[in-house]
Amino acid sequence: MKVTYYGHACFSVVVSGKVLLFDPFISDNPLARNIDAKSVPADFILVSHGHDDHVGDAVEIAKRTQALVIANFEVAMWLEKQGAPRVHPLNHGGGYKFDFGRAKLVNAVHSSTLPDGANGGNAGGFVVESTDGNFYFSGDTALTLDMKLIGEATLLKFAALCIGDNFTMGPDDAVKAAEFVRCREILGVHYDTFPPIKIDHAIAVEKFRAAGKTLHLLRPGEGHDF
Ligand code: NI
Ligand code: MN
Repeated sequence: MKVTYYGHACFSVVVSGKVLLFDPFISDNPLARNIDAKSVPADFILVSHGHDDHVGDAVEIAKRTQALVIANFEVAMWLEKQGAPRVHPLNHGGGYKFDFGRAKLVNAVHSSTLPDGANGGNAGGFVVESTDGNFYFSGDTALTLDMKLIGEATLLKFAALCIGDNFTMGPDDAVKAAEFVRCREILGVHYDTFPPIKIDHAIAVEKFRAAGKTLHLLRPGEGHDF
């Protein structure tokens, strides 16, 4: 599966020929100045929770591409109100079969208030299952034992895990998360964007290596085939 990283927690995955874009936050990301949000492709936009560093460019990209926005109920209704033309709400524990395969909204331990103070429901992550393979995106979260359920249920090709600490798991907890979901190939997200979440790349990569796993830290615009 071809992944393109757009900085922070934003990345796309091509699944069954469709582009799934996660948590678009590009225009206001100081580390993604080389990315033009107006040219980022999407057939589906999946949003993990209501914080502005995750909903950021979702409405603009949805309007331009007519992508279907998949998010928890509150975030989906809010994005629709802001002008997203097509939304599909999920709630935790529920999945739905889309064109590309199945997307399930899974637990995250985090908050989810929307940029204007509206209730963003509860933060989540996604498990995507398809004929191309399966993957997990943690969203913003603490380490949680619930991740073991994902590893028991689904064989993952890769997992995109938050690793920046301060607001989410840091590298040590993310290694544990990788063990819980039983995945060796990890895309690190949600690091370096703001001063409190800056991490030492070499130390983080070594922590995963020591656990028999590979941590990929891509530059915004860089791709990787999982
Ligand atoms: Ni957040
Ligand atoms: Mn965040």
